[in-house]
Amino acid sequence: MNFKKSYSYGKQSISFKDIWEVVKTLRSNWLTQGPKVKEFEQALCDYTGAKYCVVVSNGTAALHLAVLSLGISKGDEVITSPITFLASSNAILYSGGIVKFADIDEKTACIDPIQIEKQIIDKTKAIMPIHFAGQSCDMEKIFNIAKNHNLFVIEDAAHGLGSEYKGCKVGSCKYSDITTFSFHPVKNITTGEGGAITTNNKDIYEKLLMLRAHGITKNKNLLTKNDGPWYYEQHYLGFNYRITDIQCALGISQLKRLDKFIKRRRDIVEVYKTEFENDDRFSLLEEKEYSKAAFHIFPVLINFEKVKIGKKELFENLKKEGLFLQVHYIPVYLQPYYKMFGFKNGDFPNSEEHYKRTISLPLYIELRKNDLKNIVKIIKKIVV
Ligand SMILES: Cc1ncc(COP(=O)(O)O)c(C=O)c1O
Repeated sequence: MNFKKSYSYGKQSISFKDIWEVVKTLRSNWLTQGPKVKEFEQALCDYTGAKYCVVVSNGTAALHLAVLSLGISKGDEVITSPITFLASSNAILYSGGIVKFADIDEKTACIDPIQIEKQIIDKTKAIMPIHFAGQSCDMEKIFNIAKNHNLFVIEDAAHGLGSEYKGCKVGSCKYSDITTFSFHPVKNITTGEGGAITTNNKDIYEKLLMLRAHGITKNKNLLTKNDGPWYYEQHYLGFNYRITDIQCALGISQLKRLDKFIKRRRDIVEVYKTEFENDDRFSLLEEKEYSKAAFHIFPVLINFEKVKIGKKELFENLKKEGLFLQVHYIPVYLQPYYKMFGFKNGDFPNSEEHYKRTISLPLYIELRKNDLKNIVKIIKKIVV
């Protein structure tokens, strides 16, 4: 029998307190549409500094509603990064929008503001930067570009809950109209599945509330008439993107642990940096001076020209040693589905180079000193 310890690239941490909070909600009167939803939204506002928050069923739903709430529709262009999970650009397509990509800065793997400017035309309506690996994009620069061209900014912070940009929490929307988050189990906190949208704009907030629940409102200030206390109206074609109170109870409890999670994530990253930064087989992404990343993932770039092993063989050998890693990401425009929009190999060279070289190392708070030692040893043994 093989008792070798195995590691994935990410994993949740669930405490007894988390479980207890979920159990209490299960025994309460509200499984969904109850007080835990509002409480989680308020806790996220308090944490990020945003005025308003709407929690939803997952991060993809958050992006979809973000795009819709800004009125982006058929023929409108939105610029995003090719190095993201395809949910980001798919959300633009859901609303009938056109996806434009701008290449990444090779040093951070975040969208490059200079490349954004090159993609702007009359039809451009918004920019959707992705805070890759948890590091914030250079939001002040992006916001200024947006202001100059009268564009909206949607921050995809699926990786970035708890990260900071120039001393502000990601999600404060200081340099954007909307920020979205994901609470999938590999993310910085989890609700199983779940997502959130923050904004400082009351109109956007009201619209998001309606879009989350079929486009319906009972808000007296928004109704066109009022037949009675039961009365509601549909103003938009919305969805059922609600999240349950059970999930929100977990989210509230997890959020209380987030700062500890981040500290541990950053400590683990320090170990990896020390081990890999002076070894010419590897390169690391830079953490910029404006950023304090919550590090959802830690990608290391392999300098394949300096070693004999290829990427496929590397992955197979890592698996044999119990390391089940991931690649973040395959450039979205290289997906077969995206070919119909006319994208082709070679369109965004920095993204393709990143894809060729990147692997994400295990990063979750339960990793101990010995685990890290073991992981580093395996990687250094195999990458030759
Ligand atoms: C950058 C990014 N955006 C959006 C999403 C979608 O989030 P969810 O899986 O919660 O729908 C993810 C999920 O991995 C992501 O990594």
